[in-house]
Amino acid sequence: MSTSEQPQIDVVVMAAGKGTRMKSRLPKVLQRLAGVPLVQHVLNTASQLNARSAVVITGHGAEQVEPVVLAPNPALAVQCVRQEPQLGTGHAVQQAVPVLPDDGVVVVLSGDVPLTQADTLQALIAQCGGQQLALLTIEFADPSGYGRIVRQGHAVQAIVEQKDATEAQRHIQEVYSGIMAVPAKLLKAWLARLDNKNAQGEYYLTDVVKMAVADGVPVVAHKITDAVQVAGINSPLQLAELERAHQLRQAHRLMAQGVRMKDPARFDLRGQLICAEDVEIDVNCIFEGRVALGEGVKVGAHCVLANCDIAAGAVIHPFTHIDGEKLGVSVGEGALVGPFARLRPGAKLGAEVHIGNFVEVKNSTLAAGAKANHLAYLGDATVGERVNYGAGSITANYDGANKHRTVIEADVHIGSNCVLVAPVTIGAGGTVGGGSTITKSTEPDALSVARGKQISIANWARPQKKK
Ligand code: UD1
Ligand code: CA
Repeated sequence: MSTSEQPQIDVVVMAAGKGTRMKSRLPKVLQRLAGVPLVQHVLNTASQLNARSAVVITGHGAEQVEPVVLAPNPALAVQCVRQEPQLGTGHAVQQAVPVLPDDGVVVVLSGDVPLTQADTLQALIAQCGGQQLALLTIEFADPSGYGRIVRQGHAVQAIVEQKDATEAQRHIQEVYSGIMAVPAKLLKAWLARLDNKNAQGEYYLTDVVKMAVADGVPVVAHKITDAVQVAGINSPLQLAELERAHQLRQAHRLMAQGVRMKDPARFDLRGQLICAEDVEIDVNCIFEGRVALGEGVKVGAHCVLANCDIAAGAVIHPFTHIDGEKLGVSVGEGALVGPFARLRPGAKLGAEVHIGNFVEVKNSTLAAGAKANHLAYLGDATVGERVNYGAGSITANYDGANKHRTVIEADVHIGSNCVLVAPVTIGAGGTVGGGSTITKSTEPDALSVARGKQISIANWARPQKKK
């Protein structure tokens, strides 16, 4: 390799540990942060490094972890290697040796450290320069539990684990993050020489530092100050704390783009949120999957919005639940939705549509200006322009075996408490009287009533209680 050529990057992700303190059946690296498994965050970052390959070391819960990390990823070739039993971090990386090319730089990451940024790793890789051992380090006021960076003068001499450290070493505040970049060839040679003669009887990956020093290979520390990037998850509390730190960062990023949030501390994004200008988001909203908010969109308090497109000027009133899942949901310009509305997959609302409280819409298209303001269900329906759909009305779209469509043409008025039994078409401009059960299609401009005829008996005497 010539010095001008950048060596290829091969990532090793250690993910075999048990995570006892999570007290969960789910392996630790599959716990979710911002809706994404921890190990997936790590692989996403690895993808941004343009790594040639990634090897995930699995052990505890391997049957569950492997399908997640092996899910197709166009940006990164991932393979898994099992470590059984788990004899330490050095032993973990030893398992990857047979599948690691000799000519690359290996970046060692932990499956439970989700928020390291790609630019930080790029800087670490640059420090390695294809020749040196580069360690990502940080200073903590309370370094307990971590491996300490032992220096002589400026030069790094060793990493000493907490349990092996002398009293003096325990006062060192610079600690090893668990992340390193190292030429594969050197790493392989050092791994072959590891032993487990230490306080924990484990093969420590961190012992490669001493070997580098002994071999005259420079060891460089890339020291950062951002603790979030090296924070590991060991307990439900740490998971929740890192989730909050991450959400606050996401909120700040969106606010820097102009999004107005009532309270950035009460905001959750578990996916991708794309906002045009002058978007306003009230407190306690959750965004999942891919959500796009057009110019001037307002989202009221306590809404859950997932996989949907909300066009300019639309207002989503409080307590509305929207989830487009795979089909998506679209809300047209200037539409009003909620409070307490539910839009399900395939709901496509045109401009100025109004969907009011306790209205559920599924796999239905509503053309511009249509309104369903109260207590209604529209499923598998095609609703024309300016239709008014009365309170309590439903499309009976399911006959117990198959789903059928209801077509409500433009300018129709559906009264309250109607049942439209699909397949059925209500002709344009027609009116359906309240309380009707409509089983046959109706002509344009017709009034259709299908209910028991009212009878009134004059001066009727109510039965009296017997004495
Ligand atoms: C490790 C470092 C320590 C560093 C700290 C940062 C060593 C010896 N020590 O300590 O210097 O300050 O991380 O968080 O490396 N794992 C396996 N197989 C094993 C053991 C661990 O895959 O046999 C995985 C774990 O699942 C975890 C990672 O390696 O993802 C780190 O292991 P952990 O036991 O947490 O190491 P620490 O004792 O925290
Ligand atoms: Ca740890």
